[in-house]
Amino acid sequence: MTKVLIDCDPGHDDATAILYAARHLELVGISTVYGNQSVDKTTQNALSLTALLGIDVPVARGCEQPLIRTFRHGGDVHGKTGIDGAELPAPRQEAIDAHAVDFIIETASRYREELVLCPIGPFTNVALALRKEPRLARWLRGISCMGGTTQVGNTTPVAEFNIWCDPEAADVVFRSGVHIWMVGLNVTRQVGITEGDIARLNEGGAVARAYGGLFGFFRRRLGEIHGLSTASLHDPCALVPFIDPNLITYANCPVEIELGDGLTRGMTVCDFRTLTSARLENIRSRSASNCEVAVGVRARSLVEHIM
Ligand code: BDR
Ligand code: CA
Repeated sequence: MTKVLIDCDPGHDDATAILYAARHLELVGISTVYGNQSVDKTTQNALSLTALLGIDVPVARGCEQPLIRTFRHGGDVHGKTGIDGAELPAPRQEAIDAHAVDFIIETASRYREELVLCPIGPFTNVALALRKEPRLARWLRGISCMGGTTQVGNTTPVAEFNIWCDPEAADVVFRSGVHIWMVGLNVTRQVGITEGDIARLNEGGAVARAYGGLFGFFRRRLGEIHGLSTASLHDPCALVPFIDPNLITYANCPVEIELGDGLTRGMTVCDFRTLTSARLENIRSRSASNCEVAVGVRARSLVEHIM
């Protein structure tokens, strides 16, 4: 069973990723980061989720700001708590003493070449861990992230939220040499929980009803803000390659992060050119494509599997 450490900012879809990993994979840890809300709130949410799910997994609190710029929390689609829509139980455990950056390094060192790191929030913790311990890049089996897009963005016309929050951190991660699976909005927006799914959850047991409440709120906000009719299950998609690889198709592709200050800051520039001219061969070897980018999804089957 694949060992995963989830680096997250719960977050409605982060909450689903935690549930999905706990059910199908060996979830060895959770680290938290600012993003959908402050790191105090996302950490509290992660701890409450472990109580709701009855799982005993260490939770390590991480960074409260991006590497360089100051970040202001909007709390828009995820609400004031970062996970509005359901009353979650009080945490039964506290965050561990170690900072997320050290926790990531220690966990990867313990499970050499076995651990998949899943960043599903801004990439700040992961970038700092790679900088603090350069051997981390060798110790990891890979990094499977939710972030970026091959098409339109959600935070700017071309940038996706997790990358846009800290493009410099994402750049460190994408240049680290670690094998990367990137699932972006072009795929995750297709994986939508419908009103009918939410009604089904609301007829289930305590955990299902909690998720029904969460998704009711999330779907309504995504409708109001982005005009979507379903609640996108972005973050659990990052776990799919290790649960059922038939559900999402990935293609090998060099990816670079736009760090400029202009309109395209935070864009994931995916080089899908397939020509084989000498010039392009040079470009390819320079970028040393260590990245697989999600390009297709059996969306309804995946929603059903998560349900
Ligand atoms: C990503 O941003 C957050 O709002 C979600 O949790 C997801 O990780 C989607 O752009
Ligand atoms: Ca997230």
